[in-house]
Amino acid sequence: MDRADLIVLGYLVAAVFFILGLKGLARPRTARRGNLLGASGMLLAVLVTLIDQAIVSYWVLAAGLAVGAGIGTVLAVRVQMTSMPELVALFNGFGGAASVLVAGASFHEFVDLDLVDDQVSTAAAVTALIGAVTFTGSVIAFFKLKESLKWSGFGGIRVVNGALALTSLALGAMVIIDPSNTTWLWALVAVGAVLGLLAVVPIGGADMPVVIAILNSLSGLAASATGFVLDNTLLIIAGSLVGASGLILTQIMCVAMNRSAIAVIFSDAPSSSAGSIDADDVYAGRVTSSSPDEVAMILDTASRVVIVPGYGLAVAQAQHVVRELTNVLEKRGVEVVFGIHPVAGRMPGHMNVLLAEAEVDYELLLEMDVVNPTFAQTDVVIVIGANDVVNPLAETDPESPIAGMPILNVDHARTVVVIKRSLSPGFAGIPNPLFAADNALMLFGDGKQAVSDITKALAEV
Ligand code: TAP
Repeated sequence: MDRADLIVLGYLVAAVFFILGLKGLARPRTARRGNLLGASGMLLAVLVTLIDQAIVSYWVLAAGLAVGAGIGTVLAVRVQMTSMPELVALFNGFGGAASVLVAGASFHEFVDLDLVDDQVSTAAAVTALIGAVTFTGSVIAFFKLKESLKWSGFGGIRVVNGALALTSLALGAMVIIDPSNTTWLWALVAVGAVLGLLAVVPIGGADMPVVIAILNSLSGLAASATGFVLDNTLLIIAGSLVGASGLILTQIMCVAMNRSAIAVIFSDAPSSSAGSIDADDVYAGRVTSSSPDEVAMILDTASRVVIVPGYGLAVAQAQHVVRELTNVLEKRGVEVVFGIHPVAGRMPGHMNVLLAEAEVDYELLLEMDVVNPTFAQTDVVIVIGANDVVNPLAETDPESPIAGMPILNVDHARTVVVIKRSLSPGFAGIPNPLFAADNALMLFGDGKQAVSDITKALAEV
């Protein structure tokens, strides 16, 4: 077996590790093992690439590694769990940019050596377009998630985007017809960059989770296309895996929000509207405040409790105190489960990750479809820092930015206790009639403090 065979074999084994890793990541119980398998596959892939003679300079590689590892370490240590989606958006963008640069550099080399064939030029054109769209689209998504970019474009922006898409197709055709003129490729990158920017700008608020999933998928497709430029099997496989899993995630997000990916990208974003309901009309004179003592007394008589966590649980870092409250209630013979909405928090699986960190049993986490029919037989629902995912306006106000999004029907329970600091809106920026419902009690305060206070009060009843 010569060096070339060894490299192919090494890549093949790494690809198998990636696939097994992904399979493991599909279930909380096997997720750690899946993560380890994926990381081992990546280590093997890097080692195999290092022994490949195509490496030009190990020193440049080491310098790149040092800079990248340094930035990555600082980001990983500094980033708050609640800012993870922004970081994921940036990672997607860097993936797209790296694909463009690697494929572009290789394309130039092939042109200089007069080795360009249809596979190389087609793959380079696909990488240039998808990579550039992913890069600028992700940067815009990053600023939108940080809420530092409010601009939602200008009238006729979708028409401009249509024209840009047609122009990029024409430029892509020129890259294939006339590959020796590399200007076509960089013109395609430039048009793709503007298209990515203007395509994401009009999309706002509530649709951002879907956009991140789409960009994630695109970054994988760009990497896969780069694999065809470099004729690198592993890059093709790994990119396809990212592309496919991003697509599946997009589908899950779309079902969870009752949106279609096409509608998110091409329709006038409903998220730009603030809905037709005014906060004062919803809340005035109708909100009932409560106290930890009162909530403890209600819990004392409950036999079934559902806890519904949301973004505020992450902000308050209340997962550990929630686990303590769960233990106390279970010791008193109360059945406790968690109702998990697929887009609760700010990233897919946000609530699952937080609750797993506090070692809440996976079996207690019920998905929306499973928990919804059980609310009618539930004595108390405790909503901790959730807002949009329990907002009935999704079902009643077609003007609302979350119109049509399936919600957790917590108002079907006998009593709903909502823990949050104020009547401020959630991510979608709209009031929530649940807070004024007859069976709802508001416990105003920080999530962590409020839950600890309830647990303390419960010990005294
Ligand atoms: P949100 O609707 O964003 O509401 C979170 C609530 O938490 C706020 O109303 C806030 O009210 C409260 N809060 C903040 N800090 C708190 C603290 N320290 N203690 C107690 N409460 C606190 O959250 P949600 O119900 O989880 O819905 C998620 C939203 O984010 C959806 O609109 C979804 O589309 C969007 N989104 C989701 C994702 C993914 S993939 N999960 C990604 C991006 C966007 P106060 O300020 O009054 O406390």
